[in-house]
Amino acid sequence: MTSSTPEKRECLYKILVIGELGTGKTSFIKRYVHQFFSQNYRATIGVDFALKVLSWDESTIIRLQLWDIAGQERYGNMTRVYYKEAVGAFIVFDVTRTPTFDAVNKWKKDLDSKVQLPDGSPIPCILLANKCDQQKQGLVTMPQKMDEYCRQNGFAGWFETSAKDNTNIEESAKALVSKILLND
Ligand code: GTP
Ligand code: MG
Repeated sequence: MTSSTPEKRECLYKILVIGELGTGKTSFIKRYVHQFFSQNYRATIGVDFALKVLSWDESTIIRLQLWDIAGQERYGNMTRVYYKEAVGAFIVFDVTRTPTFDAVNKWKKDLDSKVQLPDGSPIPCILLANKCDQQKQGLVTMPQKMDEYCRQNGFAGWFETSAKDNTNIEESAKALVSKILLND
């Protein structure tokens, strides 16, 4: 019997999730992939992986290979290995702790210096202001300043997220995938 199902395009994208310790990288991924949240903090050691499969449109299936990189890796020397062949990234900070925002720039520089698209341009990166269910501190209380910060520092956009309350998790992922597809 012949099948009438049209050919589907399948894409596999490697996506990095980076940022300081305890900002909610693992929680973001757990919420996005497993619809699950826990208050308990267990620091990631090295790197963890998760796979999210998206029916993007009628003819496209997208597999997102999410690389959950430990915050403490910024002090290590493995990031070059972890970043290899990634096509998109999230940098996560914690809206309740401004030092985690101050470190965003260091993560972005580390990223841009170690991974590029085949044409040499930076990979699309979205900034996540996580734990927005809690009291915010610093620049994130001024959305226009955040827009400006993102423009100046080469971010494709930013979202206030809460892994706890499931705020903007799907939306931010969708935004990154849209940017990735523009390069494909
Ligand atoms: P490392 O693996 O050490 O780099 O940390 P991480 O960025 O993976 O942080 P993780 O997801 O483990 O979260 C750290 C703590 O913050 C945990 O206790 C989480 O429950 C909490 N947390 C994460 N996201 C949120 C959020 O959106 N809101 C609130 N209130 N707490 C959160
Ligand atoms: Mg973690």
